[in-house]
Amino acid sequence: MIPLLQTQALSLTRPGGDQILQDVTLQLAQGERVGLIGPNGAGKTSLMLCMTGVVRPSSGVVQMDGETLAPGGFHPGMGFVFQQAEDQLFSPSVAEDVAFGARNIGLTGAALDRAVAAALDRVGIAALAERPVHHLSGGERRLACLAGVLVMDPRLLLLDEPSAALDLRNRRRLIALLQDMDQALLIASHDLELVLELCPRVIVIDAGRIVADGPARDILGDAGLMAQHGQEVPHSLTHQGHIAHAHRR
Ligand SMILES: Nc1ncnc2c1ncn2[C@@H]1O[C@H](COP(=O)(O)OP(=O)(O)OP(=O)(O)O)[C@@H](O)[C@H]1O
Ligand SMILES: [Mg+2]
Repeated sequence: MIPLLQTQALSLTRPGGDQILQDVTLQLAQGERVGLIGPNGAGKTSLMLCMTGVVRPSSGVVQMDGETLAPGGFHPGMGFVFQQAEDQLFSPSVAEDVAFGARNIGLTGAALDRAVAAALDRVGIAALAERPVHHLSGGERRLACLAGVLVMDPRLLLLDEPSAALDLRNRRRLIALLQDMDQALLIASHDLELVLELCPRVIVIDAGRIVADGPARDILGDAGLMAQHGQEVPHSLTHQGHIAHAHRR
């Protein structure tokens, strides 16, 4: 079967010669949820930027539904929520920013207004619709970015550190919202508990290369592998975590 998204031998060298991505080949199936983990500077954001066509890889290709994507093009089937919300929001108000995404997929008039209201409601910031984006708190900005992508109803959502800056309630809301979605998700995160809850599969990237790709529990529970790449086994997979869960029951 043709994968929803695939990268073939993707490499990225930045001016100055730094090799940021090396020979990254991966596939994502329709509706699949995959966690992308690795230390700071591993290349997670760079990989997502190449997938969405924001950055042109030095070599290799990105395909969606078997079609090669041209860098710089707009790919309505793919939604990307940036790690830095400041990179994504640019309209005067929250509602206008979300409306920009809705217009991108051809919505106008009452249908556009309904889609914007629904997206804001879904992420819990309906009350902030008219707020200037530069007056939002860090967490509110992230939620506004998410609404701006959800409104386009992409078949694949790339989320770069989606829980960063969110309080516990909004993190929980985000997890529940993503859990309910049937779209494919690629989630880059240092929040390994979130990855464990949402993603049956995990890819580990370090120094621009994929070093592991497999079932989340096997990878995140592998203390040796995790330590080798600057990670720790998440608490809920450790012996202590099991005891804590048992007490809670
Ligand atoms: N425009 C650029 N020019 C040169 N080097 C860059 C550029 N953007 C990123 N890099 C470098 O590429 C490497 C990978 O960065 P990237 O942002 O992809 O890492 P990351 O895995 O997302 O890290 P983090 O967990 O901190 O978000 C880093 O060493 C970074 O300094
Ligand atoms: Mg990053």
